[in-house]
Amino acid sequence: MEFSRVLIQFALWVAILHQLNQVIGFPLHAAALDDIPAYSDSTDREWRLQVDAHVKENLASILRDEAVNRLDKLGKVSDSQEFLQRTFMSPAALRAGQLIRTWMADAGLFTWIDDMGNVHGRFDGMNSSAPALLIGSHMDTVIDAGRYDGALGIISAIAAVKALQKSGKLREYPRPIEIIAFSDEEGVRFQSTFLGSGAIAGTLSPNLLQVKDKRGVTVQQALQKLSFPGTKESIVHLKYEPESVWGYVEVHIEQGPVLEAKGLPLGVVDAIAGQTRLRVSMKGSAGHAGTVPMAMRKDPMPAAAQAIVAIEELCIRLSQSVGQVTALQATENKGGALVCTVGEIASWPGASNVIPGEVTFSVDVRAKDDSVRELAVGNMEVIIHEICRNRAISCTIERKNEAKTVDCDHELTERLTESATAATSELSTLAGVPTANQEAVPTISSGAGHDALAMAQLTKVGIIFVRCTGGISHSPEEHVLDDDIWAAGLALHSFLEADLPKSLSA
Ligand SMILES: *[C@@H]1O[C@H](CO)[C@@H](O)[C@H](O)[C@H]1NC(C)=O
Ligand SMILES: [Zn+2]
Repeated sequence: MEFSRVLIQFALWVAILHQLNQVIGFPLHAAALDDIPAYSDSTDREWRLQVDAHVKENLASILRDEAVNRLDKLGKVSDSQEFLQRTFMSPAALRAGQLIRTWMADAGLFTWIDDMGNVHGRFDGMNSSAPALLIGSHMDTVIDAGRYDGALGIISAIAAVKALQKSGKLREYPRPIEIIAFSDEEGVRFQSTFLGSGAIAGTLSPNLLQVKDKRGVTVQQALQKLSFPGTKESIVHLKYEPESVWGYVEVHIEQGPVLEAKGLPLGVVDAIAGQTRLRVSMKGSAGHAGTVPMAMRKDPMPAAAQAIVAIEELCIRLSQSVGQVTALQATENKGGALVCTVGEIASWPGASNVIPGEVTFSVDVRAKDDSVRELAVGNMEVIIHEICRNRAISCTIERKNEAKTVDCDHELTERLTESATAATSELSTLAGVPTANQEAVPTISSGAGHDALAMAQLTKVGIIFVRCTGGISHSPEEHVLDDDIWAAGLALHSFLEADLPKSLSA
């Protein structure tokens, strides 16, 4: 009898304390965030300020600690035991998609996976029929990848939206917010980038489904093996109507050294360099390495070697002549004049005692200036054909992928700059991280293509760059400081907050 009365009294006290917590907003424990009444339910400014203070304390746990933790987790989802690799429609890519989906749901988003394997999380906001803000990046990786490329953009978007949801402000957002984790940006498996964002933007070629990977599996077969329809209609259907989209924002690691050199965590992108990917195939005649005299050979391997060296020479020469024009800009990383890379080569049949019958290699050409890139590719084609003609080798050059330089939206870029500036100064207060100089957030150009490149065909785009150690990317050495991950989340959070009705911003 006596004991149960004590229990009842205890329960009463717990209830009273809980009420007290509701009234004065005293942070009893972190989970109390869930109990905060809707922001708009109260008209009391004092109350709102208290909620704000309460939420700020807990923002760090979402925007920093949880984001860092999730990047760590996602970085372990790999098709290889030894290194990080997630390619389009691979088992690890599917697992990563599922994981991301649960995190999106945890942020209060409605989630689905589309017919190209993109993972979506959407919240309708105040007006479900208003054009939606899309935020995204890619979940596929290169081979032996770092864990921030692509993943950082997805994780920080989820973190920013979750923080907004926890503070009860998400429901006041004036338009739908949709986070998309794109299934293919790196193009490792099918040599054709942007299968994910390209489908949403409607830029994919109709022939895409028949493109084969190294083992002869087509995109269609890869999709159908995993029970996606893999039909032309199902892909065409994924395209978003431009009227239904407000804009696209992406957070991405810089993959270059500029921010680190400046001692700053964030930058905003003004333009993405255009890119051409070629596939060069050289056919000669295969033969016995011991019996065919040198003079009687049609060996495509030396032809390829000669072509590769010629490509390098051409690009050095052209980039130097372009570099002179933009020397001033180059120091601002605006030049990034012209870069050419042969990163992949294969020979058939590929045996040490056989003269190869065929050699194929890739060429990746990028420039901020489209005319420079076109000039380089045009010259390259002439040079390669000439080398093949001289050696009686038959040559084909395929343009696998071509993307023009994309300018980011001016207004969006300005808004992102304001948000990144606010985040940088907030961070120096919160974490005691001093900024190295007065230049809060620099504007830089991107030499790397991102999903924003495809999305720019659909809507206006803006990109925030995040500093990475040594500018290293596409490598397990890739690293982003925990506080910089925090900065990225804060910047997106502040960008979203700026869109809230004025009465809600403190
Ligand atoms: C919601 O958005 C649609 C499309 O932009 C617009 O026509 C409509 O007026 C908006 N509704 C409200 C209540 O603002
Ligand atoms: Zn990337």
